[in-house]
Amino acid sequence: MRKKIVAGNWKMNCDISETYELLDALSEYELAEDVQVMVAPPFTSLQAANQALIDTDILVVAQNMHQAESGAYTGEISAAMLKSAGVDTVIIGHSERRAYFGESNGILAEKVNAALKANMQIIFCFGEELDDRQRGEHFDRVSSQLSQGLFHLEESAWENIILAYEPVWAIGTGETASPEQVQEMHKFIRRTIGERYTAKIADSISILYGGSVKPENAGEIFGKPDVDGGLIGGASLKAESFAAIINAFS
Ligand code: PGA
Repeated sequence: MRKKIVAGNWKMNCDISETYELLDALSEYELAEDVQVMVAPPFTSLQAANQALIDTDILVVAQNMHQAESGAYTGEISAAMLKSAGVDTVIIGHSERRAYFGESNGILAEKVNAALKANMQIIFCFGEELDDRQRGEHFDRVSSQLSQGLFHLEESAWENIILAYEPVWAIGTGETASPEQVQEMHKFIRRTIGERYTAKIADSISILYGGSVKPENAGEIFGKPDVDGGLIGGASLKAESFAAIINAFS
C-alpha cells in the first residue's frame, strides 16, 4: 500500500507567532489517521513548528536547502542545519525555485544528492508550463525533469523520494488540472519510473498532485488511482481548509 500524504507548503508566509496560531487551530480538527500530514513553514518557523507538533504525527518539512555541505554561501541553509533543527524532509524543485531562483535540473540533481547523503526524505516537485501543454509537450517536459533530476539515483534511494506533480499553470492561479488530466499524468509518471527502474518501485512511490487544490476539488482528485495525495499551497494556510483536504480521501 502506498502512503497517502498531504503536505502544506506555506511558502513565504507565517512568522513564528502565526506558525503557533495556525498549528494550534489545526489541532482542533480530527485528521484522518491513515494520511501522513506534513507542513512546510519558512526556515525561521521550523523549530517553532516542531515544538508545536511534538505530540503529533505531523511532519515538519523544509521548503528548500542548498546543495553544499557548508561554506561561503551567504543566505543559504544546508541539510545538516535542517537536521539540527529536527527536520528530516525537504521539498526540492518547486516551480517557484526553478522560475525565480534559477534552479536548473542540474542544480536540483545536486540538491537531491546532498539531501540523500544526509539521510533526508525528499518531496521532489516538477511539472510543465502552460505553453508546454499547449504545444502538446507536457509529457516530454515531465519526463525530462524526472530523468535529469532523479534518474541518476540507485534503486535503493527511491525509498526516500516522494514525487509532487505540479503543473505550473495551476499553481496559485485558481486553475486546477482536471482529475482526468492529473490521473493521465500520474499514470505516465508511474509508467516512466517503471520503465527506468522496476514495477515495484513504480508501484510503491507516492505521487502527489499540487496546484490550486481546495476542499471542493480534493476528494475527486485524490480518488484517482494514481494520485496519492497533494502538495497544498494557499489552502494550507487556513486550518479549516487544510483539515478538509486532509480528510478528503474517500
Ligand atoms: P497552490 O500552490 O495550492 O496555492 O496552487 C501549490 C504549490 O505551489 O505547492
